[in-house]
Amino acid sequence: MQIVFGIDFGTTNSALSVYRNGAVEVVAVDGTERSDDLMRSVLYFSEENEIYAGNDAIRHYVDDGAAGRFMQSIKTFLPNTSFVSTEVFGKRYTIDDLVAIILRKLKACGEEHVGCSVDSVVLGRPVLFSTDAAKDSVAQQRLEKAARKAGFKNIWFQYEPVAAALAFEDSLLPGQERVVFIGDFGGGTSDFSVIRVKGGAFDRSDRRSDVLSMGGVYVAGDKFDSQVMWDKVAYYFGRYSHYKTMGKDDWVNVPKGIIYTLCQWHRIPLLRSRKTREQIRVIKGTTDDPHAIEHLENIINDNYGFFLFQAIEKAKCDLSSMDQALIQFTERDLCISEEMSKHEFERINAENFTHISDCIDDVVARSGVLPTQIDSVFLTGGTSRIPYIQDMFVKRFGQHKLENRNAFTSVVHGLGSSVPLFV
Ligand SMILES: Nc1ncnc2c1ncn2[C@@H]1O[C@H](COP(=O)(O)OP(=O)(O)OP(=O)(O)O)[C@@H](O)[C@H]1O
Ligand SMILES: [Mg+2]
Repeated sequence: MQIVFGIDFGTTNSALSVYRNGAVEVVAVDGTERSDDLMRSVLYFSEENEIYAGNDAIRHYVDDGAAGRFMQSIKTFLPNTSFVSTEVFGKRYTIDDLVAIILRKLKACGEEHVGCSVDSVVLGRPVLFSTDAAKDSVAQQRLEKAARKAGFKNIWFQYEPVAAALAFEDSLLPGQERVVFIGDFGGGTSDFSVIRVKGGAFDRSDRRSDVLSMGGVYVAGDKFDSQVMWDKVAYYFGRYSHYKTMGKDDWVNVPKGIIYTLCQWHRIPLLRSRKTREQIRVIKGTTDDPHAIEHLENIINDNYGFFLFQAIEKAKCDLSSMDQALIQFTERDLCISEEMSKHEFERINAENFTHISDCIDDVVARSGVLPTQIDSVFLTGGTSRIPYIQDMFVKRFGQHKLENRNAFTSVVHGLGSSVPLFV
């Protein structure tokens, strides 16, 4: 009996499914506060060079007082050809080394569940890792290399929204046929597809003609968090502070590049470079806002960006069910308490929503079917919970066409359902 795993290596969360005897099951992995079926896609390297993934990473990071190096949103680096490797406490790791650590842990969970070793996997991939075709292929190659390092020998790829469509298909009754718009709104990317699906048993070996169109943007959960940081929180760290450059009397702003990097929390460690530290030291010498610059230094040195962004993410998620939320965070003498309304969240993210909205229209237009011919809209991924995103679809297709199920596991379920397409 052949057993094949499906692995959804996500920007924020990863998950695993098992395909055996013609059936797919999603398997409990590490667990997160949301679900046992997920593992946070995070790593932690302690100063003693121990490496932890998922919950262990978060626990050790907290226990060590954030002394080691914490990494999140690693998937985002896959298409980044200028990022080849990183040094952590004297050891060099390539991007595929980092991804392999997460895949290995998922593989071990799956193998424990089925009771034998498994060396075949269907991996999910976004529609676009990058708009640059060369970078896009580098990203997939790196992911494949990571899977090999984790011990997989047979590796196939499936587009994440197509996987979500197959999961949706598994819920249809025999004979039911639908044209469905799939929207998978994750942490790093929002991916779309218009696809023809059918219930019941039929030859699933080639589905290319059923995929009517696909598309995606890199605007998803992380971008919304960054935008909130930029508009609501960055001023605590010097966004509006000034300083005087050497020998001149004019006030200048703290360089935008520093604040911009600060707003993408997985990139904060880049601010530890000697050049940036020196720049901040100079700013601190003459600034009109020494408190803010001290906070800027502290967040870089003490590595607490993760917790700050958790507070921001919490407020964002609260706004999916409430009209008002509070961004609350305390660290030493920094005390952040910022009210944010749903309306304000939507206003500051207007440009991000426009990118998503344009991409949806483009994918519908390229499908060759009219919006009225789309029978259902299936939304998945954590970010699909944002009411403004739901409304985009209600406006285009009507409430009655919307289906929301298993926001966090439909992609991984569909990766398992993809196995007959490859094996
Ligand atoms: N209730 C909610 N409201 C708004 N956003 C939410 C909610 N719950 C989760 N999210 C966001 O969903 C994102 C994670 O979703 P998901 O697990 O689907 O992403 P992923 O699969 O890891 O990412 P990707 O598919 O882009 O690689 C995070 O950005 C999280 O903040
Ligand atoms: Mg995803």
